[in-house]
Amino acid sequence: MNIAGISVRELAEKYDTPLYVYDFAKIRQNARRLKQAFLSDDVEVDFYYAMKANCNPEILGIFISEGYGMDCVSPGELRLALETGAAADHILYTGNYESPADLQAAFNAGVKINLDDISSLGRLLEVGKPELITYRINPGKGRGKYEQITTGGDKAKFGVPYEKAIQAYKKAMDVGITRFGAHMMTGSGVLDEEHFPRMLELFMDQLGEIKKALGINFEFIDMGGGLGIPYYGDKKSLDVERVARETLKVFRRKVRELNLGNPTLALEPGRYLVGDAGILISRVTGIKNGYRTLVGIDAGFNTLIRSALYGAQHTILVDGKEESEPTMLADICGQICENTDIFAKDRKLPETEEGDLLIFTQAGAYGSVMAMPYNLRFRPAEVAIVDGEDKLITRRETYEDYISRFQRI
Ligand code: LLP
Repeated sequence: MNIAGISVRELAEKYDTPLYVYDFAKIRQNARRLKQAFLSDDVEVDFYYAMKANCNPEILGIFISEGYGMDCVSPGELRLALETGAAADHILYTGNYESPADLQAAFNAGVKINLDDISSLGRLLEVGKPELITYRINPGKGRGKYEQITTGGDKAKFGVPYEKAIQAYKKAMDVGITRFGAHMMTGSGVLDEEHFPRMLELFMDQLGEIKKALGINFEFIDMGGGLGIPYYGDKKSLDVERVARETLKVFRRKVRELNLGNPTLALEPGRYLVGDAGILISRVTGIKNGYRTLVGIDAGFNTLIRSALYGAQHTILVDGKEESEPTMLADICGQICENTDIFAKDRKLPETEEGDLLIFTQAGAYGSVMAMPYNLRFRPAEVAIVDGEDKLITRRETYEDYISRFQRI
């Protein structure tokens, strides 16, 4: 198999495995396609890349050059976004259960602060009073590919419950804050086009009530991220052009009907932009024929945690045998000493042997960023393919990196 014209086998030999590889042209193409889809004469649409999906600075650089702002969730992300060259006025800081230090960092940087709760405002005022704030409103509904990544609704830990939203904005007005935005993020990995305009309609109706009660003109309405990509077993991809068309239609209609002034529309995509541009290459280290057939590889949940955490299923190809008949039924597992370190159960595979390379597709989002050095298996390297050349963009973590933090007493 090749990625952007370069053989996976060569990459594995040159950089060792497990290894994340990204097709930078594909990332740029995704960034442009989404912007193009939302291009409109009468609605200004602003894009913030959710850098939690993959925060390698070379990847952030692509989005900055494509006119994206940054969606940050921690002082660490904020610092990296600024150091990579994102403009402070094009950064949104969305924390949750924000500490005074978190809020101080966001306030000092002069970025847009999106508060997760009415109680966050009190903590923010201890460090300073910005001209503009946003609240993340939990509209009472949510939808994600898995329950664990459903971030709206009454089971989610995020946002100001809609019932308290008027009170929250009122409190901000009372202390002299004059400019406002509104934000929601209700779930990740959604492949249903209709979901996005439907949620926006519900949300904008709620904003209409806030406007009626307090007279606020929201400067922007942020509908979050959530645009899905197809993984193993999914039958379709997301038609983003249709999402854009229907969403813009709702946006225009609701702004008019509810007299919402002249807000911009904001989006915070993560997965859609980088997910399908990355693969994870791993090597088969052992095959066990016991109660079941187990194919063990050198990547585990320490490398890609999505299967262990959510039961997520990635497409897994065997290099050089992509076209071969599947003759094996096997579980695919990592080397971590935990029984949850299993990527797939009863997966059909071509005849697989020790030393074969297994390729996980759709590994560009929430892959390397969620890796950990558990069991002292260190974090993987990352390589970018740029103009037909492979370039190391993250070196493999070493034993020395890890132990340098220990202090002997
Ligand atoms: N904005 C906010 C405030 C978010 O919390 C998130 C994701 C995004 C934007 C981007 O969402 P996206 O466009 O990527 O769906 N680790 C999980 C996904 C967790 C998403 C959390 N928040 C996974 O591997 O599926």
